[in-house]
Amino acid sequence: MPQIIFVQPDGQRLCVEAKSGITAMEAARANGVAGIDADCSGACACATCHVHVAEEWSRAVGGPNDEEREILEFADAIGATSRLSCQIVLDDAMDGLILAVPGLS
Ligand code: FES
Repeated sequence: MPQIIFVQPDGQRLCVEAKSGITAMEAARANGVAGIDADCSGACACATCHVHVAEEWSRAVGGPNDEEREILEFADAIGATSRLSCQIVLDDAMDGLILAVPGLS
């Protein structure tokens, strides 16, 4: 059961326990993480679940596929490690994963 750390724009950290096999977005929503609205409920269609993967985790998490990359273009504050959290499926190897919630622009 990996623990995922969500970092708010003000630096506040929220550590949540998540079951392997669910997405980072589902873990965020289940634990009331602010800034992960997930308006499309994980259909890769809204970009309101955008996160920045911590640099040290970017290789393990991997990059977006073409469909996800297209939707990310609608998100604010895109960075080199941007992902849609609904497309990050968690597993035990992701214990300690750090995901930053972008600030509002
Ligand atoms: Fe809509 Fe992730 S919840 S793109």
